[in-house]
Amino acid sequence: MGALISSQTPPLTERNLGDQTGKVFAVTGATSGNGLRLVRILYQHNGKVYLAARNASKAQQVIEDMKRDFPESRGQLHFLHLELSDLSTIKGSVEEFLSKESQLHVLWNNAGVMVPPQGSKTQQGYELQLGTNNLGPFPLIRLLYPALAKTAAVSPANTVRVVWVSSSAVSLAPKPAVDFSNMDYHVMKEPGQNTQGAKQSLDPGVAATELQRTMPWWMSMLVKLVGQKPEIGAYIQLCAGLQFDLDCHKPDTWIVPPGKRAPGRKDLFDAALGHKYWEWNEEQIRPYL
Ligand SMILES: NC(=O)c1ccc[n+]([C@@H]2O[C@H](COP(=O)([O-])OP(=O)(O)OC[C@H]3O[C@@H](n4cnc5c(N)ncnc54)[C@H](OP(=O)(O)O)[C@@H]3O)[C@@H](O)[C@H]2O)c1
Repeated sequence: MGALISSQTPPLTERNLGDQTGKVFAVTGATSGNGLRLVRILYQHNGKVYLAARNASKAQQVIEDMKRDFPESRGQLHFLHLELSDLSTIKGSVEEFLSKESQLHVLWNNAGVMVPPQGSKTQQGYELQLGTNNLGPFPLIRLLYPALAKTAAVSPANTVRVVWVSSSAVSLAPKPAVDFSNMDYHVMKEPGQNTQGAKQSLDPGVAATELQRTMPWWMSMLVKLVGQKPEIGAYIQLCAGLQFDLDCHKPDTWIVPPGKRAPGRKDLFDAALGHKYWEWNEEQIRPYL
């Protein structure tokens, strides 16, 4: 719970972020909550941002609002259609991006659902939370990799990044954290235990956003009671993506509120389990590359 609420000052905010002119960013799930706040800050500081989202009209409204709020910005905002719960569409989204851009400085894997009703599935039949939050980003990263690598080759070391937004709920994960005999979730997990994943890089804290739309009422109420402003989650993402001196290779750690490196639960960083989980994902996405 200590990581959930923090009154410390975030290291990077809209007040001290430097000029982002010339940088290209992509934020998944940019139409609400933390992702929307993150895009606002990037655009305010002249970043070129792709709002990778599934709802075009919602994204266009967000873009219009931001352009109105920051008329001085020299940045750019672009909608990029992305439906993470349908693996067959992701290649097309990446092709669309690559037809416009050859560089990508930071990709934030922010989009997600939490505690969807039991039985919710992706187009390919995966459990919805696993499919959206974990599996969907795999082809995205894989197909964007050449642009990321090309950008990294001409950028300062460790500044081109892929950020994974996870959750403090991983602390409730079973041991071992991934149950390979139950990847289709035929045995239902308790809330918090369905955050399958071997690589988590940040905990955005807790905030009342649209994420609670599928949660049981009591969980939603609890989040409203203890949650912070979604801006705090955006600041943590800002730190993970853009803090210049962040040591991205420090083992067994992630970024927690308000934007500091901290050790995670040791077994969640188990290299063998992580490798096996990575391979499982690679296997699932192979037909869609
Ligand atoms: N808020 C919290 O307390 C909290 C706690 C722990 C972790 N997190 C994590 O933080 C991240 C951001 O959450 P949030 O609180 O900002 O929630 P949010 O307001 O619900 O935003 C989630 C975004 O993900 C998008 N999304 C959902 N399914 C998608 C799909 N299949 N394809 C593409 N986009 C999809 C949503 O798009 P639509 O608008 O079209 O639905 C929305 O823009 C998530 O990964 C979440 O798991 C949040």
